[in-house]
Amino acid sequence: MEKICIYPGSFDPITNGHMDIIDRSSKIFDKIIVAVLMNASKTPMFSVEERMDLIRKSTEHLPNVEVDSFKGLLVHYLEEKNVNIVIRGLRAVSDFEHEFSMAALNAHMYPKIETILMMTRTENSFLSSSFIKDIARNKGDIKDFVPSQIVSDITKKIQEERFSGK
Ligand code: PNS
Repeated sequence: MEKICIYPGSFDPITNGHMDIIDRSSKIFDKIIVAVLMNASKTPMFSVEERMDLIRKSTEHLPNVEVDSFKGLLVHYLEEKNVNIVIRGLRAVSDFEHEFSMAALNAHMYPKIETILMMTRTENSFLSSSFIKDIARNKGDIKDFVPSQIVSDITKKIQEERFSGK
């Protein structure tokens, strides 16, 4: 039987921290499905389709990575996919409380679930998509923080934002 896990998140945009988790879990699992949440309550920088494209570009070298999106509850998506392993990255102790509550609530709703928290490498422990957007919007250099394949997509998006007066 194939060992499959789902790595859910907002990925707005994918960072080297996310890539670290994807790279490492792709060696443990036969297949990893990176699932982008379609969240109507947030105003993302990139659309769900754009975020999926950025993930695809960043994971081209990993044949066992699939990119998908989901709406609503993660547990419903797991059921639909018939997968019960969820992987999430843990950057610091501060992430733990949120991840712990989410894992507990998900386990209550879907007892078959196994949430695996993978510690990010220390060099990535300070990274977040929000910081990266902030740095990029303020003309800082983001090349050390995101996969090289997507740096120009982010700078292009910032230019479009400026042009449209956002
Ligand atoms: O990258 P993020 O924003 O930290 O990812 C959070 C995500 C998408 C994993 C989480 O918000 C989620 O699973 N949302 C789907 C809705 C859901 O299942 N909510 C109940 C969680 S207890």
